[in-house]
Parts: sequence; structure tokens; C-alpha cells
Amino acid sequence: MKSIIAPSILAADFANLESEVKMINESEADWIHVDVMDGEFVPNISFGIPVVEAINRHAKKPLDVHLMIVHPERYVDAFFKAGAKVITVHAEACPHLHRNIQQIKALGVMAGVALNPHTPVSQLSEIIADIDLVCLMSVNPGFGGQKFIENTYAKVKEINALIISKKSNALIEIDGGVNLQNAKSLLEAGADVLVAGNFVFSSTNPKDTIHRLKAI
Ligand code: DX5
Ligand code: ZN
Repeated sequence: MKSIIAPSILAADFANLESEVKMINESEADWIHVDVMDGEFVPNISFGIPVVEAINRHAKKPLDVHLMIVHPERYVDAFFKAGAKVITVHAEACPHLHRNIQQIKALGVMAGVALNPHTPVSQLSEIIADIDLVCLMSVNPGFGGQKFIENTYAKVKEINALIISKKSNALIEIDGGVNLQNAKSLLEAGADVLVAGNFVFSSTNPKDTIHRLKAI
């Protein structure tokens, strides 16, 4: 199965970001997933624009920026300038989601919408044809290293059906608790992009772990 593997830099050693990014460059990873948290939309703060710029200075793979922040429209341009090639906002954080998606698309990068585990797929029905990616949260956003939520499989299938019925080209990305045990079933259910943080960076050989995810 041809999948996109996106290691999440949130699980990297922040004191050695340059070498962590180089490891991803040398691996079979396709994208670098970059989790931005504001301490308001989610109960944690990760990092902001200068850190994304620093990652981008060393990255040879596209930055997939996942904005877990309120009012993302205030920062979309800055993350674009910092090097983002995919920008994802949360449906739950955006009362004017259509406008937010148009803003991202006007920059010429991929526009994504993320859904929390409790958010119904039907929330996407009027936006799915306009977006390039659905980021389906398979944990509650805010922290790496959490347990995968099993209901995700049913949601992937539902999103897939919606994509077909609305003739959308959106990719389905799974974010949270992805490992070699659930990856194959997720791809079989219709996922296109697998984000993996802890599973990659806590392993003894991250490059090989990326290879094994890519080889599924
Ligand atoms: C969670 C983040 C995820 C996280 C995934 O809020 O959006 O991208 O880094 O990490 P793991 O793979 O450790 O669950
Ligand atoms: Zn994420």
C-alpha cells in the first residue's frame, strides 16, 4: 500500500532538533509532522513560529503543520512563511472554517481540517470537497504517547465514503497512537497518511521504524 509516513517532531529531542531533522531527512519518511499547541485549544504548549522556521532550515521533507490553536487565521501567514507545506486547522476551533480554508489555499499549500475523536464526520460534509487533507485525531489532541482510540477505524471508513460521495481528493491522515500494530488496519480502512511520534522516536532505531511503517 502506498502510504505517506509523517514522523511527529513533537516526540523528538528538542535539544538536538538539527540531528533529529537530519534523521528524518535520511529516512523513508515523506513529511515532517509539526504539532503547534497554544495552551488554550489544547491543555499543552509545544512551540511556535521560530522553532518551525528552525526545523525548516534543516528539513528536506515538507512540513505538515498541525495547528492546535484558537484563531488560526491570525497565524496562517506566519506558518506559511516559516515553511509549512500543509496547514491543518481544527474544525472545533473554527466557526468560519470555509474562510480559514480559503485563506490557506490562497497561499498555494495543502489545506487540512482536523477532527477531534468526539467530532462527527458529518461536520466535514460541506467542506470535504474544498480540502486536501482530513487529519483524524485518534487520541485527544495535546500530548504525544497516548493510547490509540479504536473507534478511529469506523471513522476512517465513514470519511472515505464521504470523500467518494462528494468527489473529494482529500487524503486521510491518522494522528495519535499509531504503531506497527494498528497501521496496516488503518491503511486497509482507507487511511493515506500515518503520523507517528512516540513509536518512532522512542524506538531504538527510528530510521528503521520509519522504514517498517513505510513498508506496510
Ligand atoms: C497530539 C499530536 C500528535 C502527536 C502524535 O496532539 O497531534 O501529532 O504528536 O504522537 P504519538 O504518535 O506519540 O501519539
Ligand atoms: Zn498532530
